[in-house]
Amino acid sequence: MKISVIGTGYLGATHAACMAELGLDVVGVDSDAAKIEALSKGELPFYEPELPELLSKHVKGGKLKFTTDYSEIADCDVHFICVGTPQMKDGLAADLSYVKSAFAAVAAVAKPGSLLVGKSTVPVGTAQELAKQMPAHTELAWNPEFLREGFAVEDTLRPNRLVVGVTSDRAEEILKEAYAVNLKEGTPWVRANLPTAELVKVSANSFLATKISFINAMAEICETTGGDVTVLAKAIGYDPRIGNRFLQAGIGFGGGCLPKDIRAFMARAEELGASQAVEFLKDIDAINLRARKRVINLVEKELGLDLKSFKIAVLGATFKPDSDDVRDSPALDIAAQIHAAGAEVTIHDPKGIEPARKRFPALNFAEKVEECVSGADLILHLTEWKEYRELDPAAIKKLVKQAKILDGRNMLDREKWQAAGWDFHALGRA
Ligand code: UDX
Repeated sequence: MKISVIGTGYLGATHAACMAELGLDVVGVDSDAAKIEALSKGELPFYEPELPELLSKHVKGGKLKFTTDYSEIADCDVHFICVGTPQMKDGLAADLSYVKSAFAAVAAVAKPGSLLVGKSTVPVGTAQELAKQMPAHTELAWNPEFLREGFAVEDTLRPNRLVVGVTSDRAEEILKEAYAVNLKEGTPWVRANLPTAELVKVSANSFLATKISFINAMAEICETTGGDVTVLAKAIGYDPRIGNRFLQAGIGFGGGCLPKDIRAFMARAEELGASQAVEFLKDIDAINLRARKRVINLVEKELGLDLKSFKIAVLGATFKPDSDDVRDSPALDIAAQIHAAGAEVTIHDPKGIEPARKRFPALNFAEKVEECVSGADLILHLTEWKEYRELDPAAIKKLVKQAKILDGRNMLDREKWQAAGWDFHALGRA
């Protein structure tokens, strides 16, 4: 089977390399010539663990090719459309322009009998609309992805489920052939209609966002009552109906998916006259953004309302560890807000400095943690990279001006830092 993958961002590049690993011949397509040139040399233009090895293995082995030219995918049996659906600049809805033009470009070259499969996260109803515009000799299916950045390869090679939205047995059979290795390994297979497949993705992300905002709401209550949200999360997490994952209280969720997906879901529900059903997502979004504000309030409480004469060290810029993605990063947003309030802010991040600098060129960046914290009045721990958990509080204390730290992710060992003489603060822990 020969397939194409349209769009070579986090999702597309991962899908392309992993499908080659699963034994298919893959052609990746993107309109960004510089990206295609890098990928053709086996170079990954972003950070994702395990992906560079897989990419160069299959580019060298000839199973994976990249091009900007759609005519080179005319002989493919299946086309996976993996382009982005960012939030519109002027509203909450998703911008579908990339999806629409990708489908149109593939439709223009697709051979009779080929299957066009959307993987992008789209508002419910998009697939049915697109299907009407596809040539009669092709078929359309929807196959949402659930990969997490930082675990993208693992999640694609060994997904916890495969969901296919199809309108015929034939389309399902083609997808079963594409994912034959996963099926053989016992991956659960869910056949759905097109709207259900689209909804599975947004409802899964809404549920995850809800879990995080739930625990962050409990953190707010803990702060005013003397409770400890880390203990609370542990205690409720023992109930298997609740589970202990995604209950890490802190500065909240960011990234290229959860925030824009819940907003697009609200926008779509409103168009459908069903806004009441997902009105709660407004609160989920508000709780999430409030966590950032709570950090700023804590900083002001510690240092005073006028931050102008203070130096603040920010550990972490990416929206989560093991990624260089700074899209809607709570850490970077907080850093920028504190900078705007007058403080001198220096940011460290193991992988995200360059993308963060591009977004906020006025902020200071440090290559080393020691340089970042030097002379600081306060350290903000905002992305939970492993190397920050391994810091020696006694050694760091010698570099700072004031030994004050705020753990925005509830991941540092509070007792260890306090024992070394630090004034330790955290969200949701009195
Ligand atoms: C998410 C979904 O998990 C994935 O299934 C979907 O395909 C894409 O969106 P991703 O954006 O890579 O994946 O990140 P995820 O690991 O879900 O984390 C999202 C955000 O939530 C991060 O900013 C993270 O720091 C935050 N988070 C996560 C918390 O604040 N607390 C938690 O307990 C878990």
